[in-house]
Amino acid sequence: MTKAIRIHETGGPEVLSWEEIEVGDPGQGQVRLRQSACGLNYIDVYGRSGMYPVGDLPAVIGMEASGVVEAVGGGVDGLVTGDRVAYPMTLGSYAEARLIDADKVIKIPHAISDETAAAMMLKGLTAHYLLFRTYPVKAGDSILVYAAAGGVGLILCQWANQLGANVIGCVGSEEKAQLARDHGCHHTILYRDEDIPSRVREITAGVGVAAAYDSIGKATFEKSLDSLRPFGVLATYGNASGPVDPFSPQILAGKGSLYVTRPTLATHISTRELLEEGAQRLFSAVESGQVRISINQTLPLADCAEAHRQLEARETTGSTVLKI
Ligand SMILES: NC(=O)c1ccc[n+]([C@@H]2O[C@H](COP(=O)([O-])OP(=O)(O)OC[C@H]3O[C@@H](n4cnc5c(N)ncnc54)[C@H](OP(=O)(O)O)[C@@H]3O)[C@@H](O)[C@H]2O)c1
Repeated sequence: MTKAIRIHETGGPEVLSWEEIEVGDPGQGQVRLRQSACGLNYIDVYGRSGMYPVGDLPAVIGMEASGVVEAVGGGVDGLVTGDRVAYPMTLGSYAEARLIDADKVIKIPHAISDETAAAMMLKGLTAHYLLFRTYPVKAGDSILVYAAAGGVGLILCQWANQLGANVIGCVGSEEKAQLARDHGCHHTILYRDEDIPSRVREITAGVGVAAAYDSIGKATFEKSLDSLRPFGVLATYGNASGPVDPFSPQILAGKGSLYVTRPTLATHISTRELLEEGAQRLFSAVESGQVRISINQTLPLADCAEAHRQLEARETTGSTVLKI
């Protein structure tokens, strides 16, 4: 008997239902995983609420987990029964067991636990592409990180600090500000009360930041543009406050020949080469201690409605793991 969290309709956390599912045997190119932990990600809220498509209903949602290979289908190289693996960004993770294409999973190094792997793959690979590909951060750059005490945020702050950046973090409370500072953030802005562009100008001696990594979306888009230096890059990579409204590219000229991009991890792991490059860099950063993965909430997978409620209410910090 296998249980999973499914939705039969989109909506609030109450649509998340713990029920029995059939898993079956792996087909060509697939493996079956016996999972031990799922990562909770904001994208799970978008899928549950209907903002992002999740395919035919009922559907098992969730995008990230770790576990053990328990059956291997035909044509799979490099994976055997008993391998510990994890994966990001593959719908259907909120389950005790699942089938998955073998090329989506990555073996977990010995030094990294299943819980840590589930807490870091999607968020860590996102931090990786933002800092190394979207705007490659250089020592001495000032950068702006939103939700700096959140799951992606705490990883971004630590990694950017290690790269030599001057890290400015936007946070929703004093407690979150302290946490962000403990994870490499040099300056914090309490953005519920303080004006972001003026504080950024104050901190950067009037220059502005080289890059703004904005996961808030609608509520902060213009503030991010107004915080950039000339030729600065806005990576608007999330919608916690709703999707950004349509805008004219002309405004980018007036504000200093700016760049705006709307990246997604899906593109950044769309080939095996891209996925492995990101995963190896992430594992090295974690194994060397450059990046610590903070699991600040752990709940049983069956209680994930409560985990969704906490995430949307801005009550969580760092990563949340749903234990199986
Ligand atoms: N494009 C991609 O490839 C990609 C990949 C992964 C994640 N993301 C995005 O990155 C963001 C962070 O994801 P995460 O899973 O690590 O979540 P998270 O940052 O741990 O949680 C969301 C945080 O956003 C802040 N927030 C600001 N306004 C909010 C609002 N109206 N409603 C809810 N939260 C609000 C809150 O922090 P404060 O209280 O400090 O404001 C909250 O704790 C999400 O927007 C997600 O969609 C994008």
